[in-house]
Amino acid sequence: MWTEKELDRILTTPSAQLIADMENIEGDIMVLGAGGKMGPTLAVLAQKARSASRTAGRVIAVSRFSEPEAADYLTRSGVEVLPCDLLSDGALDRLPETPNILYMAGRKFGTTGQEAGTWALNAALPTLVGRRFREARLVVFSTGNVYPLSPLAGGGCSEEDPTGPVGEYAMSCLARERLFEHAAQAYGSKVLLYRLNYAVDLRYGVLHDIAAKIQAGEPISQKTPCFNCVWQGYANEVAIRGLLLADSPAVRLNVTGPETLSVRHTARLLGEHLGRQPILLDDATDRAYLNHAGRCMRLFGYPQVSAETLIRWQAEWLLEGGRSRNKPTHFDEREGQF
Ligand SMILES: NC(=O)c1ccc[n+]([C@@H]2O[C@H](COP(=O)([O-])OP(=O)(O)OC[C@H]3O[C@@H](n4cnc5c(N)ncnc54)[C@H](OP(=O)(O)O)[C@@H]3O)[C@@H](O)[C@H]2O)c1
Repeated sequence: MWTEKELDRILTTPSAQLIADMENIEGDIMVLGAGGKMGPTLAVLAQKARSASRTAGRVIAVSRFSEPEAADYLTRSGVEVLPCDLLSDGALDRLPETPNILYMAGRKFGTTGQEAGTWALNAALPTLVGRRFREARLVVFSTGNVYPLSPLAGGGCSEEDPTGPVGEYAMSCLARERLFEHAAQAYGSKVLLYRLNYAVDLRYGVLHDIAAKIQAGEPISQKTPCFNCVWQGYANEVAIRGLLLADSPAVRLNVTGPETLSVRHTARLLGEHLGRQPILLDDATDRAYLNHAGRCMRLFGYPQVSAETLIRWQAEWLLEGGRSRNKPTHFDEREGQF
């Protein structure tokens, strides 16, 4: 039986490699924007790896904590919680000096019609954080949306491919990258630009979106016919271990699973597990947001959970009445409107 406690336990159990790497990550680790979908399990994973490695250093989670349960969970798990609106006057000056930063603050949904707020968070804040924490190693969460939609036959964009953001959200994410890149150039800060495509933690994610539509008997578009996704436990491990990869000039890293999943095949598998026939629209195109994560696999190994296992887990989660965050990914959005 799935429970939220069991899901969080699996997501926050550190691998032997993470525990070993933690011995080389000296000092405190601060997670900025820790209150969202990934931050709480990432911070607890780091805390457990820190304890298991018997090395010194706090894990500090900074966020507004709009969802207070996140702060409770972090506190219970031994993470130090610092409520803070990073955009408020003087907020960054009050944060402790920290040698390791995981930068997760960002805004995607609600951008259309509120573009200025998204630029303030995704582009202005990085300038201030880059200056404030110029001595730190920084892993900067970014997105595969900095690349353009690419042909299905192309194998996905790699780190050397040109960027081509579509829409203001994606443009503001490229701005975030450029401003941290600038910090690496101007101050010698060590930076890793971590380009993630769709983490899966069962309470949200692309698999959740497709499975929920099948359960509700809603049609599924194939306009974006393929996608990449990755187990959130792996994505979080790579982010923490990525602190050791951060460098000046900034390093880019695509983070996603090794499989290119088709919406049709995924829906069929989910439908079999859920005991319901998916309704697929006949609107497939020949382009999608696809990232090639070969460099990530070479450096950190393959994810410990395969896509087929995630598909089965996702169906089990929904069949057993598992909680949904009600935060759709809109992975099929092609005009950059979020
Ligand atoms: N999850 C994915 O599959 C995925 C894919 C690609 C890229 N990413 C990127 O990776 C990062 C982490 O992902 P996520 O899914 O955890 O994102 P998320 O759910 O949007 O979390 C980011 C958190 O940042 C915090 N934040 C926003 N404004 C803030 C402010 N002014 N001061 C302090 N904290 C602030 C918010 O929490 P509070 O309300 O508590 O402040 C928010 O929940 C994000 O930048 C996201 O865009 C994620």
